[in-house]
Amino acid sequence: MSLSDLDIDFYESEDPVWNPALLTIPVPGIRKMVNLAANLKDVIHLSIGQPDLPAPEHVVEASVEALRAGQTGYTMDAGLPELLEALAEYYGERCDRTLVPENILVTTGATEAIYLALTAVSGPGREFLVTDPAFMLYAPLIRMNGGEVRFLPTRAENGHQLDPDEVIDAFTPNTHAIVLNSPNNPTGAVYPRRALEAIVEEAAYRGIYVISDEVYDHLVYDGVEYASVLSCCSDLDHVMVVSSFSKTFSLAGMRVGWLIASQGAIKKLRRYHMFTTTVANTPGQWAGVAALRGERRFVEDMVKVYQRRRDRLMELVDATPHLTCYKPQGAFYLFPSLPDGVTGSNVALRLLRETGVCTIGGDTFGEHCSNALRISYATSIDNLEKAFERIVPWMEKQDFD
Ligand SMILES: Cc1ncc(COP(=O)(O)O)c(C=O)c1O
Repeated sequence: MSLSDLDIDFYESEDPVWNPALLTIPVPGIRKMVNLAANLKDVIHLSIGQPDLPAPEHVVEASVEALRAGQTGYTMDAGLPELLEALAEYYGERCDRTLVPENILVTTGATEAIYLALTAVSGPGREFLVTDPAFMLYAPLIRMNGGEVRFLPTRAENGHQLDPDEVIDAFTPNTHAIVLNSPNNPTGAVYPRRALEAIVEEAAYRGIYVISDEVYDHLVYDGVEYASVLSCCSDLDHVMVVSSFSKTFSLAGMRVGWLIASQGAIKKLRRYHMFTTTVANTPGQWAGVAALRGERRFVEDMVKVYQRRRDRLMELVDATPHLTCYKPQGAFYLFPSLPDGVTGSNVALRLLRETGVCTIGGDTFGEHCSNALRISYATSIDNLEKAFERIVPWMEKQDFD
């Protein structure tokens, strides 16, 4: 039995032992593609959502040293005090606001922080606004807990930017929270400060929570300013900001993230956190202290590498029949459109089978951008060029009309 069969068996099982809420979790499109690719030879992956660059040496060393020094036990439930202090200072400087360790909860990656934030505030009859396309985690977590998801479509014509007037018009008396993600996965869009300030201000006025996933906050190109929601709000009463070391320091496997919110919210979430993962990985938290306190040249160099790749990938996509793309300024994805009516995951499947290049169909990320492909540039320029040597002739042969 292949891995992909196992997935389908699990998710589609009607065995009454399973909580029906699990049915809100779709078979992840990315897993499906990666599992299919595992059975093929000579695959070039443009599907990857994690950095391919090695983590900085001194950060890795810090976790090894921590282990050697016997740091193998639990930390405080809210997180290692040294890391909480370092995060408070780092965000204080970056966002020009005073934060204390009590505003922060260290989690098992941003994933746990998103899980805690969404499941702690979702409930029957509560409406959540989520952009479409979006990272796959948000909608299922909201629905699992009885909340309703209303999608806010973003469009390729304007680089998948959020129009604050459209967002504010979409607020209703039932709107409980809005989920934002800038730089965005899968679109690479970076929301400008003006737009965020307008949305956050109106949300605060109406008592709507803003849950902001900022895991790609350092992966911003062309000298564009990055605006964290933390620097766009007057207080933290209705704000939860999530991030992690996964993308910025190439530490996805270390599983250390965090959630920043009001002290009252953190108190509640701490209790919930103790009943989910207890504490985050201890040596990973020491690595995090070294990342924040140590030399940060790595981040500048990393941004240059990704920006060069994005530029090369833009050229390759521009030279490919049937693909059109705006220029995204963040994360490490391009999200080019195929002709209207073409389903991205069908094209991605055929591309994988017929050329050995693995991409992800736009329909994996929502309902409004089915005719797109997500192409990750968390891979070398050499790999990108090799992949397009296969994609271009394949596309030339297609007649999508
Ligand atoms: C938008 C977004 N949020 C959260 C995550 C998960 O991050 P972490 O590894 O910190 O759990 C990812 C990972 O791909 C992501 O793309």
